[in-house]
Amino acid sequence: MADPKENVQMEKIVSLCKRRGFIFQSSEIYGGINGFWDYGPLGAELKRNVKELWWHAMTRQREDVVGLEATIIMSPAIWKASGHVDTFSDPMIDCKTCKGRFRADQTDEIPCPQKPSKCVNDCHGEKTAPRAFNLMFQTFVGPVQDDSAIAYLRPETAQAIFAQFKNVLETSRQKVPFGIAQTGKAFRNEVTPRNYTFRSREFEQMELEFFIKPDEAVEAIHGSVASVPTTGHPGEPQSNWGWQAWHQYWVEERVRFYEGIGLNRTTLAFHRQTPEELAHYARACVDILFKFPFSKRDEQGELKGEELEGIAARSDFDLSQHARFSGKPMGVFDDELRAAWGKLPKEKSDDLWRRYYDNRKRYLEKSGVAPEAAAKQATEDANGLAKGQYVPHVIEPSAGVDRLILALIANAYSETSKTDEKGKTETNVVLRFHPRVAPIKVGVLPLLKNKPELVAKALAVRDLLRPWMNVYYDDGGSIGRRYARQDEAGTPFCVTIDFDSLGEKPELLNTVTIRHRDDGRQERVAISDLVNWLLPQIR
Ligand code: GLY
Repeated sequence: MADPKENVQMEKIVSLCKRRGFIFQSSEIYGGINGFWDYGPLGAELKRNVKELWWHAMTRQREDVVGLEATIIMSPAIWKASGHVDTFSDPMIDCKTCKGRFRADQTDEIPCPQKPSKCVNDCHGEKTAPRAFNLMFQTFVGPVQDDSAIAYLRPETAQAIFAQFKNVLETSRQKVPFGIAQTGKAFRNEVTPRNYTFRSREFEQMELEFFIKPDEAVEAIHGSVASVPTTGHPGEPQSNWGWQAWHQYWVEERVRFYEGIGLNRTTLAFHRQTPEELAHYARACVDILFKFPFSKRDEQGELKGEELEGIAARSDFDLSQHARFSGKPMGVFDDELRAAWGKLPKEKSDDLWRRYYDNRKRYLEKSGVAPEAAAKQATEDANGLAKGQYVPHVIEPSAGVDRLILALIANAYSETSKTDEKGKTETNVVLRFHPRVAPIKVGVLPLLKNKPELVAKALAVRDLLRPWMNVYYDDGGSIGRRYARQDEAGTPFCVTIDFDSLGEKPELLNTVTIRHRDDGRQERVAISDLVNWLLPQIR
C-alpha cells in the first residue's frame, strides 16, 4: 500500500472534489452505487476541456486522423469477434462465510463486507476456487428477454472503429497509414471498483486506432524498414516506417500531450509489457503511468504509478477477426505495393512472401483455424500481398478520461499557508491546473459590489470574454476571499476592475489588473487587449 501520508493526501483530494463540485458519488441521496461517479460543475468543465484537447490534438491538427462517434450498444457479434464474450474476464473468488466476492489476485486489499474496516484476510472464511467473471454488462434489445436479444454495453470504444473501418476508408479519402479516433463511454462490471474514480464501472475512453502497412509491404516498397532509436521522439512520420517506428512515435506523441496539459515527465512512469503480459497477437505495449498518491512503491521507495494509457502494437489481429467473423473483406489495395512488388528480385519477393505467410498462418492457427485451412488461407493472403493487398496492422493509443481527470487533480493539488499578525495560520488549497485544462479560465471581479460603475464595467468585461472562454463573475466578499475561491477552483487568472479602470488615474482608464494564480503577480492590461492576452495562454 502507499504511505499513509499519501492516503491523507487522497482524503484531502476526495474532500475537495466534493466540496468544490468536481466529483460526486452517483445516486448519493440513495446511498450511492459502487463504481459510479458524477462530475459536478467544475468537474464537467475539466473533463470537457480534456476531451476537446485530445480531439483537437488527435484529429483536427492532423491530416491523417479522422473521427467517429459510434453507438454504445452494437451487434453482439462484434464482441464475439473481438474475443470479449469468451475471454474478457477477471478471476473471481467467493468467501463462503462473509459472502463477499473478490478478485482472486487482490484478496489482501479488499474490504470484507461484514467488517469493512478489515481486510478480507481477517475474515478466515473458506474461499471458492477462482472462476472467470465476464466484465461486460448485459442487456436485452427489444421486448423479448431471451438469448437472441442479448446485447452488451461496450467495454471499449475501439471495436466500433474496426467494424466501421471500411466505411470510414471509403468516405474519408484517407489512405493507409491513417487513423480513426473516438471518445465515449465504456462499461466494465469490475469485481472490485477502487481508488476513487480510478477503476469505475462506467467510464470514458479516448482511443485512436492508427492503421499502418505490414512491414513486408513497407519493405517491398522501400527496400527496408527504417530503423529508429528505441527511445525519444522519432520525428515526423516517414513513408518507410514499420510498426516499431510508428509505435515509438505514438508513445512519444502521447507523452507530449500529457506534458502539454501539465503532467511533466517526472510525474509519469512507463511500463513496457513483458512477452508474458502481452496478448498473443500483440507485438508490444507501453503503458504510460501516473504516480498517484495511492500508487505502490518500488524497492527504492519511488511511486510506481497506475496506468493512464496503453499504446499497443496489435498486429493485424482486429481487422482480421472482423473479416473472419463477418465474412466481409477488411483488406486494402495498395497501388504502390503492387507496382513495387513487380520489380523485386525473386529472392526478396520470396522472402517477403514467406514472412507474410508465416505471420498470417500463425494468426489463423492461434485463432483456432485448423492447420490445413490456415495454410490454405495464409497462402491466399501472401499471394494477395504480391498483388498489392493486405490487412492493415494497427497501433492503438487507448486512454482513460476519468483516470486522467483524477491525475490532473492530484497533480494540481497544493496548499499554501499564511500566518497573520495575531499568529493565526490559515491554509488554502490551490489547484495549479495548466490553463488549458482549468475549468474556469478567468474570474472577473469588481473591486466593490456597491459601486454601480465598477459593477457595470465588470459585467461588460465578463460579456466580452464569454464567447471565448469559461468566465466566472464574482462580487461576493473581500477581494482576498474571492481570489482564494478561484485558487481553490484552479482558475489561472483573475481580472479585477478597480477605480483606475474607471479613470481615477486617467492614463489607466479602461485597463484592468490580471492576477496570476500561482505567484500572485499582477499586471495591468487594456480591456481591449484582454482577449488577445488570454487566448494564447489557455489554448
Ligand atoms: N481498447 C483497449 C482498452 O480498452 O483497454
